[in-house]
Amino acid sequence: MKPPLLEVSGLSHDGRGVARRDGKTVFIAGALPGEQVRCRVTRARARFDEAQLLEVLRASPQRRAPPCPHFGHCGGCTLQHLSDGAQLAAHQQQLAGALERIAGLQPGQWLEPVASDPFGYRARARLAVAWDAGARRVALGFRRGASRVVEPLDSCPVLAPAAGALIAPLAALIATLAAPGQVHELWLATGEPGLALGVACAPALDAPDRARLEAFAAAQGAVLHFGVIAAHGEEPQWTEAGPPLRYATAVDGPVLEFQPWHFTQANRGVNRALIAAVLAQLAPGAGDHVLELFCGLGNFTLPLATRAARVTGVEGDAGLLDWARRNARINGLANTEFVAADLAVAPAGAAWARARYDLVLLDPPRNGAAALLPALARLGARRIAYVSCDAATLARDAAVLCARGAWSLTHAGVFDMFPQTAHFESLAVFDRLAVRARER
Ligand SMILES: C[S@@+](CC[C@H](N)C(=O)[O-])C[C@H]1O[C@@H](n2cnc3c(N)ncnc32)[C@H](O)[C@@H]1O
Repeated sequence: MKPPLLEVSGLSHDGRGVARRDGKTVFIAGALPGEQVRCRVTRARARFDEAQLLEVLRASPQRRAPPCPHFGHCGGCTLQHLSDGAQLAAHQQQLAGALERIAGLQPGQWLEPVASDPFGYRARARLAVAWDAGARRVALGFRRGASRVVEPLDSCPVLAPAAGALIAPLAALIATLAAPGQVHELWLATGEPGLALGVACAPALDAPDRARLEAFAAAQGAVLHFGVIAAHGEEPQWTEAGPPLRYATAVDGPVLEFQPWHFTQANRGVNRALIAAVLAQLAPGAGDHVLELFCGLGNFTLPLATRAARVTGVEGDAGLLDWARRNARINGLANTEFVAADLAVAPAGAAWARARYDLVLLDPPRNGAAALLPALARLGARRIAYVSCDAATLARDAAVLCARGAWSLTHAGVFDMFPQTAHFESLAVFDRLAVRARER
């Protein structure tokens, strides 16, 4: 019997087509909204099915041939088969849909969505290495979807060209090392200017293999770092073998130094647009004290500090905080202070949470900032800017903030930080309602 025809009505948060069959939701990888498809159910669950696309009978006008030959196997991209403009529109719909569905909210005003260069934008990547001793072959690339299998790449069109150009020669070089099986990951990062390569091993490589990688990095003009993975599943411990990279937060803005293992926003151009939007929305004045939660190595802190009286940055990673302090020093911004705290829990009695602030910025990881919301509402701020990489947790937190009756969602917008994938950044802005009433 032929698999049934399905009408695809939407796109899921992870980029799969969504259809209904016998009252049950079906997620179809590779299908697009508006399409009529045949698919095969690969996994039946209680509340939904997962399916493999077999045939597209009526294609979306926005479907295109994926530019990368690895698309469909490589776990790095999920939306290359959708035109660039339609990807941006889909992300916009996803943010609007999450705010409406989860929080019952619409912003007072939508910010113009910010598009990116569609390819060559990704400034850093963490690639897996798999050594097949029998075939004496190295697979270097991203893992395939949810599996541990590494898709062997010879190039990657979303990576910054300087980093992408290292993939094929590195795979060839690793295959000729004395101990190729000891290389587990390559961390690539580009700066403005500069290129760095982190080689994560378990156990550490012997001197001759290290020397060959050092010669390769020198020939490519890349700073080389070695990392050792002490136990399975642990993060590499890196040696700082060379100078840091740097990037600019704006044309004339503070310049931040970093190493390839530090969290930095993946897309420099969209990051600059996001910083500019945060500055425009918060509009810090010379008398304002700003609190920034999840501040990392100072990506927003330092631009804010060029305008505000004072910025207090809070972050959980002590290593990143050292670099935030260093970056403040390098940029001559003495009006910053940085505090280490676990922001996954409520800040019971912490000094930073007892102070008063005029403005707040938060940029949490994917799971959002649920534990902080009661404290946020008590800080006295007139405006909160919330940068998010997960529309669902942003909407969940927005619902809590606005349900307390004290805050309203004034602006929201999409920043297309990761084209060709289902991921994007959002900015949501909340005003304290009492402040808005006073201003009227
Ligand atoms: C999305 S990144 C943003 C970093 C920074 N705002 C930037 O733009 O580069 C999230 C940050 O939250 C930090 N973080 C994650 N979990 C945390 C926790 N439980 N407590 C404090 N900080 C945490 C990470 O170390 C990371 O720096």
